[in-house]
Amino acid sequence: MSTQHFLTLRDLEASTLKALITRAIELKSIRRKGESHEPLHNKTLGMIFDKSSTRTRVSFETGMTLLGGHAIFLSPRDTQLGRGELIEDSARVLSSMVDIIMIRTFSHELVERFAANSRVPIINGLTDEYHPCQLLADMQTFHEHRGSIQGKTVTWVGDGNNMCHSYINAAVQFDFNLKIACPKGYEPDAKILAAGKNHAEIIHNPLTAARHSDLIVTDVWASMGQEEEQKARELAFKDYQVNATLMEQAKPDALFMHCLPAHREEEVSTEVLEGPQSVIWDEAENRLHAQNALLEFLLT
Ligand code: CP
Ligand code: NVA
Repeated sequence: MSTQHFLTLRDLEASTLKALITRAIELKSIRRKGESHEPLHNKTLGMIFDKSSTRTRVSFETGMTLLGGHAIFLSPRDTQLGRGELIEDSARVLSSMVDIIMIRTFSHELVERFAANSRVPIINGLTDEYHPCQLLADMQTFHEHRGSIQGKTVTWVGDGNNMCHSYINAAVQFDFNLKIACPKGYEPDAKILAAGKNHAEIIHNPLTAARHSDLIVTDVWASMGQEEEQKARELAFKDYQVNATLMEQAKPDALFMHCLPAHREEEVSTEVLEGPQSVIWDEAENRLHAQNALLEFLLT
């Protein structure tokens, strides 16, 4: 049997993804009760970070501790990865020593090459194209607050970036309708959108896109690696802030999510971010529980 990786939400069956969400909720409850659950005794997760992280690093590292295993933080600054050792060679060597590997990097193709040469599961901890682990947490959070997301309407407001691409995949796998409000020139990748065409559509006007929505989601205007474009993007996205006026278009019980880190008064007003419809802190915490469900699934 070939090794099961998690590079995008398309790598797992829809039924498996739903089971992971159910399991994440159970694991959260186990943690809340202070019960011990250590199925990953003697297992090691290697974590390669080419980009910064707070949530992803801490949730994976803490997750492995909770599950009875161990995590190693690997930075290109102090490994041979940063000195030009071939990805293929690194994948062969690392996967002969650790049991599972998480990678956060720029190019999605690099993660695919790594996975093709790895004998252990590879988890995508964010690339320029996708952020599937965040979607597990987002789907768990919606489920906890509102039940099944099937048939609901979700509005993505902002850049057609890695998070937006993972929302398109989630719309297909979890069977919801996704409206994408982005400025012209900042649309999601055409191929990814085409693959999700039965579930996702672009509606450039953010107020129209937010109408009757069950969930409003946004993200930073300039992602990691796009710092130089910050000023140009502030101009391009100025009408795409999630604020009280935008939230009023959605259903009265609509939720607000943001993967964080957030830039207050840019992509989201402080009022919405800190307001009663915002579930961002649950969403951040759920990275831990959703990924624990994923680690458990891939390793046991
Ligand atoms: N949401 C998210 O992935 O956060 P970090 O960049 O802090 O890991
Ligand atoms: N789109 C953002 C997400 C950060 C978690 C980025 O790639 O920087």
